[in-house]
This record gives sequence, C-alpha cells and structure tokens, in this order.
Amino acid sequence: MAFYSDELIEEVRSANNIVDVVGSYISLKKKGSTYVGLCPFHNEKTGSFSVSDRKQIYHCFGCGAGGNVFTFVMNYENMSFPEAMEFLADRVGIKLPKRSITDEERQKADKRTRILELNKTAATYFYQLLRNDAGKRGMEYFKKRGLSDDIMRAFGLGYSDVHSNDLYQYLKSKGADDAILKESGLVTIDERKGGYDKFWNRVMFPIMDVHNHVIGFGGRVMGDGEPKYLNSPETICFDKSRNLYGLNIARTSKRDYLLLCEGYMDVISLHQAGFDNAVASLGTALTSGHANLLKRYTKDVYITYDSDGAGQKAALRAIPILRDAGLNVKVIDMKPYKDPDEFMKDGKGLFGGESVIEYERRISNAENGFFFEIGVLESKYDLKDPGKKTEFYNEIAKCLSVFTDDMERENYTEAIANRYGIDFSMLKRKVGEILLLNDGKKVNSELKSGTGVKIKKEDGRVVTQKIFLTMLIDHPEIFPSIKELIEPGDFTDELIFKVAMIVFEGLEHGNLNPAEIVSRFETEEEQREVASLFQSEIGNLSSVEEFKAAVKETLLKVKRIASEHRKEGTNDDIRDAMERLKKDREIENRIKNLNLTINEDGGN
Ligand code: CTP
Ligand code: MN
Repeated sequence: MAFYSDELIEEVRSANNIVDVVGSYISLKKKGSTYVGLCPFHNEKTGSFSVSDRKQIYHCFGCGAGGNVFTFVMNYENMSFPEAMEFLADRVGIKLPKRSITDEERQKADKRTRILELNKTAATYFYQLLRNDAGKRGMEYFKKRGLSDDIMRAFGLGYSDVHSNDLYQYLKSKGADDAILKESGLVTIDERKGGYDKFWNRVMFPIMDVHNHVIGFGGRVMGDGEPKYLNSPETICFDKSRNLYGLNIARTSKRDYLLLCEGYMDVISLHQAGFDNAVASLGTALTSGHANLLKRYTKDVYITYDSDGAGQKAALRAIPILRDAGLNVKVIDMKPYKDPDEFMKDGKGLFGGESVIEYERRISNAENGFFFEIGVLESKYDLKDPGKKTEFYNEIAKCLSVFTDDMERENYTEAIANRYGIDFSMLKRKVGEILLLNDGKKVNSELKSGTGVKIKKEDGRVVTQKIFLTMLIDHPEIFPSIKELIEPGDFTDELIFKVAMIVFEGLEHGNLNPAEIVSRFETEEEQREVASLFQSEIGNLSSVEEFKAAVKETLLKVKRIASEHRKEGTNDDIRDAMERLKKDREIENRIKNLNLTINEDGGN
C-alpha cells in the first residue's frame, strides 16, 4: 500500500460507492438501509450477503467474507491492491500518479520472466531430444502407450536423456547463472560437484498455465522405476494449487463441462479420444484454488478419478470442495478399468473401438456427487441389521440438513427417499428436527464441508463485543451517554480493542468512517474481521424501546466480560477486590439507569 498516500486511497474509495460497484457484479435488493444479495464468494441460494450504503462495507453472514470496496474488487476480480486501486480510480476518472514499482517488485517480475524463459528453453530442448536419436527410448515408450504424433505435439511432450547435466550445461551456455537455475527448479546445485539436472532419463510433460507459459514439468520413468513421476518443485511461477494440467487446451473446448482426472496420461488419452475438456490437478489433492479456477470456465465438473480405493477417497475429498465453490459435481464410473487412460486404450480394451461411445454413455450416466457420497456411506453399514439401518438413515438425514436452500434440500430429500425406499414425509420430518435442533448452526455430518469457506466458531464473549461495536456504529448518537462508562480497553479481544480505539476516537471527533477503518488494516483476514465487527447480527428488534434495552444489556455484558478478564490477570488482595466490585456495581447501576436517545433512521 505504500505507493499511494492514504489521502488518495481514501479519495478513490469514497468516490466508488460500494453499492454501485458490488451491484455491477451481482444483483442486490434493498432491504431497509442495506442491500442484500447472493454471496459471490460461496455457494448459496438464499442471500446472506449484505452491503451497507451508510458504512460502505460488505459482509456475508454465511461465509464470513467482508471488507470495503477495495477488498471486494480484490477478491472478486482476483486483483492485487495496486490493481484494484487503478481499476477503481479509472472507474470514476481519478488520475493516479504514475506508480513507480519498487526494486523488490521489479526484481520479482524480472525473475518470473527469466524463469518462464528458462522453462520454455528447457521444454524446447526436451521436445527436440524426443524427436532425435537420443530420444528413441522415449519415443518408443510413448508409441507403446498409443500416443499419436499430433497429441504429442499438442502437449509438447519431450524427453530428458541419460546424461545428468546436459540441460544444465545447455542453459549455462545460453547465459543463465546458477542462482536463477536453482530457483527454476530445473537443476540442483551442489557446492562441490556443480549443477545437476533434476530430470534425466524420463519422458517429459511440460506443464502449462492457461496462457500457454511453461510453468513446470512432470517426468515419468519409462517402465517401473521409482518415483514413477517426478515433478518440478513450486517456484515463483509454479503454484500447484492454482493450476490444472490441460486447462490451456480444455478452456477452449466446445463441450460445456470439464472432466477432472488424476493423472497426466489420463488427460492426454482423453484428449486423444476427442475429450478435449479433460484436466488434472498435478500430483496434489484438489484445492479450493483449483475449484475456483474450474469455475471460471464451467458450472459442471465430472470427476473421472481412478476406480480404486485411493481414487474413491480422492473423489470424496474433492466433491465438497467443488460443491462449496458452487459447481455441480458428478462422478463417472470407470470400472472395470483403473483410470481413463486404460479406458481409452483404443481397440484393445473391453469396449474395443467402442470405448469412446461407452465413455460418452458413462458421462451421461454419471452419478450426482451427493448420491456418490451417500453411496460410499451406505457401504459402511450392514443394512440387514435394523439398528445399523436406523443409524444409516439418521446419518442421511444429517447429510441432507447440510443443504441451506429449502428447495434444494427438499428435492434431495425426495430423491434419496425414493432411492432407499424411505418414507418421504418421515425423512423430511427427521431432517426438519435436525435443522431445528441446530438452529442455523452447521451440522456436523459425515459429509465434510470443503476447505473453501471456513466458518469460524466464535466464543460468546467475542460475539457480545462485536455486537456492541456494531450498535455504536449504527447509532453514534448513543456515544455521548455511554462514553463515561466504557473504554476501548474493556474490549478483551485484541483486534476488537484496536478497532474500538479508532472507533471511539472517530465518535469523539464526529468523523467516524467504517470503510476507511477497514482500509487501515493490511491483511485480508483482518479486513474481513473488521468488516464483520461493523456488521454483526443484532437480531430482530422491532421497536426503539427494545433496541434501547438491548444496548444496555449488551453494554452490561461487555463490562462483565471485561471485569472477569481483569480478575483473571491480577492477584488483588481482598480489599482491592472489594473496591473493584463496588466500582463495577456502580457502573452497572448507571448503565441500568441510562436514558438513551435513539435516532430511528439509524442502523446499517
Ligand atoms: N503422481 C506423482 N508422483 C508419483 C505418482 C503420481 O506426481 N510418484 C501424480 C502424477 O501427476 C500422476 C497422478 O499423480 O499423473 C496419478 O498417479 P497414478 O494414477 O499413479 O499415475 P497414472 O496417471 O495412472 O500414470 P501412468 O498411467 O503413467 O502409470
Ligand atoms: Mn494410468
């Protein structure tokens, strides 16, 4: 944030009304003085996303996303702060001084370009080797696996020969120094013995990002050696959790869904068979970063993992992550084959030349992700035993209660009831009971939520302090009557304390500015937290009298939490303790007798 002055940042922020900016991406409905819509940061069917015109911040009650207009644009558009600043300044016609990038930034950008350049050179080197005499073994290997010349070209496949430092020497001769070579992950540098190639005697799979930059490599032994695949380490160009193998080609596929595989060869074989929409995460488990990347290109993802236990496990992990990102997930049955590559062994497998047709059929019969999860669950219960059967049905009800959208839950309940021959209204009642019992809290079912959105469990003390801060911000007019009774130090939570100091000062000087306060915090995590402090759920308070009572009650609670907290930290003798108790009582009485004035048009 150092490039622009705080004043300029604030100028750009205040010129971009958050309601207009957010409203240009998602549809918002006015509800009182806030605007409500479907959260763009998690999958939901009921609007928990609220944008406050007065406070110029947003907050999602579902997933906890929150911040000001900068935070929103950074998250939605996947921009850095300087990029969001430029974008928003541009939007309202504010001219920014030309930003001179820092040395550090320039070095990093430079390094990135140099490593991408090295990767490209290496990819070309491997590519040519494969097609030379030296690469005969590699070529034979690929041919044996049934790959066509066209597909080998499309994926830029190559070969690293038996010498263990030829690439190193080659790149050196092109002027690369040891430092950058080391950082590229292509070589390891030994202090005494010099540089060694990371890859040798392997067939090579260059890994490309969606812009066709080579960002890393996978290398496979020809035959049964260990490790079977060797992959580039993560570098400043290669973030494994944000790139998918094959997406550079699959993104332009005419098919409107994506096939998600486990391996390089699966992707390549599927492409060769005409499924140019296949991608794979690279030797790493699927992450929410992958899911968000997929979501840029499609709404429907078909998992086509290995049919073995490991593949099933991987699918169970991937489904909730994809679902949380808002994708429709289906699972393709690969049996009796191990993986798509075997499935497509054209003309040699069980389906012979028909394998493509059969695979198409498997796609249309793919199982809904939720059914797949329930199916796996089912296999853990002996349904002939009435007790176990009851347990299984109860578990189903728990899983169903995870759906937050009423219609979606109802539809799934009906489908599951039909499938397992459970009485629909009974199952529905059971699900209803669970929902009631948990009253909005997340149910801890066998179906785990993905890692995409984390809902932080908060202790009651923090919630109380948050609510009081929100009350103060919604109704600054109460500040004069309470300022003698509470101080920022009463907030025991570190972050709330920091924010309270700023808020109290703003209230004292009549220049409270919630969105600007959000800007003062550097990390996204903090910005989200701060926004949530200003926008916590106060509950339904229909009258001014009710609100006044709630303010007093909350203030009392905050004071009690503060005094308990103090007690924990001190070793008062009995007289001090009595003194403190007396003071607390006095303040409590003053709070109870407070005469508050409330502006009815305040709030949000
Ligand atoms: N993988 C890896 N390192 C290994 C094994 C696997 O990085 N030692 C990754 C690779 O991306 C591989 C994927 O996991 O493509 C799936 O592994 P596996 O099913 O074992 O390999 P296949 O793709 O079936 O490989 P092949 O058909 O070449 O035997
Ligand atoms: Mn395989």
